[in-house]
Amino acid sequence: MKKSILSARKISKSFAHNGGQLHILSHVDFELYERDFTVVMGASGSGKSTLLYALSGMDRATAGQVLYEGRNLVDMKEKELARLRYHDFGFVFQQMHLISNLSLYENVAVSGYLNKEKSANEVNKRTEELLEKMGLDGIKSHLPSQVSGGEQQRCAIARAVVNSPKVLFADEPTGALNRHNSTEVLNLLTELNQGGQSILMVTHDLKAALRATRILYLEDGKITGELNLSEYSRQDEKGREAQVNAWLTSLEW
Ligand SMILES: Nc1ncnc2c1ncn2[C@@H]1O[C@H](COP(=O)(O)OP(=O)(O)OP(=O)(O)O)[C@@H](O)[C@H]1O
Ligand SMILES: [Mg+2]
Repeated sequence: MKKSILSARKISKSFAHNGGQLHILSHVDFELYERDFTVVMGASGSGKSTLLYALSGMDRATAGQVLYEGRNLVDMKEKELARLRYHDFGFVFQQMHLISNLSLYENVAVSGYLNKEKSANEVNKRTEELLEKMGLDGIKSHLPSQVSGGEQQRCAIARAVVNSPKVLFADEPTGALNRHNSTEVLNLLTELNQGGQSILMVTHDLKAALRATRILYLEDGKITGELNLSEYSRQDEKGREAQVNAWLTSLEW
């Protein structure tokens, strides 16, 4: 039995707009299972980022419940929510948001020092290990502006997982990358997931979605499709792509 670690019960999200209300999510039920790589797909404007923000405590749903470890994020105090985002969740975005005057090493390590759960020595050791795993060992003293977009994104992923988050959230992590860099970033996310990291990623990149073990389809603020997949392996990428393509076509993507 798969264990759910994050759930949404009938969440809705509306924004005030021009004196009226824009309804972006309506009564969405959602589960993220432990060790799963769930991807949410959908057209631009369908509400993918809005859903990710509501589930990760970056924003609040207008109605419904978001449950994590028995607590409802929707009515948590801001301070509690900030703590949760910092200690239990990791984030990767399309734009890497690295600190421009810190080296790649420092960008990762600082996140660990601020967390205060590990000693500086432990953080340094974890940072070294991660940078090596991400293939950034040789350029760890470079500034973000001195490395490629793919390298910046791999550094951002290292920063996101330095505190061993329970859930890694990613919003279009390959959106600003060329195909080569994108593949490297996806390989890394796949490796993290296959090592046990639970991931929720939103994307409209088909190649990125192929890494999922479960794909949900969002349309007009509702989940209208679900596809469960085996663990990703490069050998069966072609077959997997055909399967996902056929499913998306059936949803009139
Ligand atoms: N703060 C806000 N105020 C008003 N409308 C908003 C706000 N944030 C998002 N929206 C609207 O909600 C809709 C969904 O936005 P969202 O960013 O979740 O879409 P998305 O699926 O992530 O799109 P994309 O693939 O382009 O990133 C859009 O029409 C957007 O304009
Ligand atoms: Mg978005």
